[in-house]
Amino acid sequence: MKIPVGIKVFVDAAGVDPRYARLVHRYVLSAAVWLLIGTFAGLLDAFRYTVPELLELPWLSFGRVRPMHTAAVLWGWASLALLGVCVYVVPRSCRTTLHSLLAARISLWLWNAGLTLGVIAFAMGQNNGNQEYREFPIFLRLGPVPVPVVPLLAASAILLAWNFYKTIAKRSVQQIYISNWFMLSAPLFATVLVVVGWFPGFNRGNGQPIIQGWYMHNAVGMWFTPLAVGATYYTLPKLLNKPIYSYALGVLGFWTHIIFYTLIGTHHYIFSSLPAWLQTTSIIFSTAMMVPVWASTGNFLLTMRGERSAMRISYSLPFVLVGAIGYGLASVQGTAEAFKAANEIWHFTDYTVGHAHLAMVGFVSFLVWGSIYGLVPRVTGKEPNVELVGAHFWLSFVGLAMMFVALCGGGHARGVGNLEGDSFMEGIRTMAPYWVWRAVGGSFMALGHVIFAWNLWSMRPGAFVNLMQPPADGQ
Ligand code: HEM
Repeated sequence: MKIPVGIKVFVDAAGVDPRYARLVHRYVLSAAVWLLIGTFAGLLDAFRYTVPELLELPWLSFGRVRPMHTAAVLWGWASLALLGVCVYVVPRSCRTTLHSLLAARISLWLWNAGLTLGVIAFAMGQNNGNQEYREFPIFLRLGPVPVPVVPLLAASAILLAWNFYKTIAKRSVQQIYISNWFMLSAPLFATVLVVVGWFPGFNRGNGQPIIQGWYMHNAVGMWFTPLAVGATYYTLPKLLNKPIYSYALGVLGFWTHIIFYTLIGTHHYIFSSLPAWLQTTSIIFSTAMMVPVWASTGNFLLTMRGERSAMRISYSLPFVLVGAIGYGLASVQGTAEAFKAANEIWHFTDYTVGHAHLAMVGFVSFLVWGSIYGLVPRVTGKEPNVELVGAHFWLSFVGLAMMFVALCGGGHARGVGNLEGDSFMEGIRTMAPYWVWRAVGGSFMALGHVIFAWNLWSMRPGAFVNLMQPPADGQ
């Protein structure tokens, strides 16, 4: 048998069902396309802070592009990338095959269709009102017949939850590995999020901010975080070829996460007209969040202890290391932001935007990049160019560091100014140089994302996977 020249083929990829390899790759490739769309939307709005008259087209106005950016990076990039990793991890950790390849394919296209229609709705000026991260309208109005947007996303999440549940149910190992606890809880909770987030009856009077805080924080806490943490519980031991430091810490992290995270949403509305007891509850549980965060961060770091040589030769472990530290740092920062003394300075400033990027890029995206580089070659049999992976790592790391320091530093300076009675215009003048640095850091990140998309393309499955062995039952 002849192995194609210039391609390194992992033993693991031999015998993988090519349909399954294509499925995993399509999930992450779709995610990369959304990352590029979202990145360039973010970059456009970032440059507008310094050159406001840039691209003056109604469908590309700041107010339309901002939700395009957040929807594309959150619901497109981070969600699909994490789901692609789940499609790999759930069956592998259960030592079985995915229950239904067809259902997973339908979920992917439903999700992509919902997102595309949602972004078209934004461009046309249609949305669900000023509800951050739930701006997608339930229906897009193109003509006399309304086209569903949110129902497509909900149907996709329900179908995936069913597929994961059925896969876990037919596992050939007795135990349900900790990754699967996280990965099954996320699509189940997402269904609750969609129903509560779009149910019109809850959004009246003070109920609106209560639901908004709950929805917004649980989108991060009950969707992105469990998927990213669950993925790492699988990827890290796999890359290091050793068990996780403590399984018990993983279980502690899971249950405390589920209990505490759902109670902290109101910390987005400290000093507001919401009931004081609700604000206090959110501050207490924001502090309690240190338990699940350090249970998992500590577990990851202790698993990596003494593995310097593996870290030096692996191109995926550095992403996991940055992501694990990013998880700890973003969470400590979030807890600090909930305290009244800090909240009165930082709230209503760019400090919050800095925090959002540390969480979604420094934590979630770095962990998912680590999983993608570590796992995708195991199904497709193709590795990316190591130098290009390095370029992606450093551009993303340096770009994010610039953006984070600029937004949090500038946000703090502006917050202090606000308390001292600075006018709105003085606040703008304070932020002006920091916004330039955000755009520079964003440009570094954008270049890194283009390189990542190319790396992923170079890992696409080819016909050669079949050359190693005829596809077994395996996926
Ligand atoms: C080239 C890279 C990026 C640039 C230039 C950029 C730029 C921006 C800009 C200009 C905003 C609006 C801020 C405002 O309204 O004042 C924003 C918000 C946001 N971005 Fe990005 N972004 C980038 C990458 C990302 C990525 C990769 C993610 C997630 C994976 C992300 C997540 C968010 C979130 C969650 C918000 C909302 C923040 C808040 O409301 O507090 N961004 N970004």
